[in-house]
Amino acid sequence: MSVATGTFRWTEAYSVNIALLDEQHQKLFDTVNQLDQALRAGEGNSKVQVVLDKLVEYALVHFAAEESLMQEHEFPGLPTHRTQHEMFRQKIAAYLKEHTAGKPGVPVSLLLFMQGWLKQHVLKTDKQYSAFLTARGVH
Ligand SMILES: [Fe+2]
Repeated sequence: MSVATGTFRWTEAYSVNIALLDEQHQKLFDTVNQLDQALRAGEGNSKVQVVLDKLVEYALVHFAAEESLMQEHEFPGLPTHRTQHEMFRQKIAAYLKEHTAGKPGVPVSLLLFMQGWLKQHVLKTDKQYSAFLTARGVH
């Protein structure tokens, strides 16, 4: 296992202390790892479609889970959070379009975007609802 692969390992640092959401975040790490490994094996282009399909599904299921919990407990940061989710959806849709059009470099660009998402969104933005929701008994 290479050093860089370790970068994508889910650790407690990423925990939002809500079981279902942690589980979904772990699946996201798996998907990012899948892309990372495909790129290392020189199979980025043949695997990127499967990864993009998973991310579309992820955005649908996981974002809905987060947003409905935030809504239910009237988390004040919901509008901002929702905007970030929408940005993710649009970004993935754009990658799908580019890949379909045969644009080169989509797998690498997607990997970099996802790396940034894990660090910025999961590690920072998702942490904001974590304390709020767990204080209200969500676990
Ligand atoms: Fe989120």
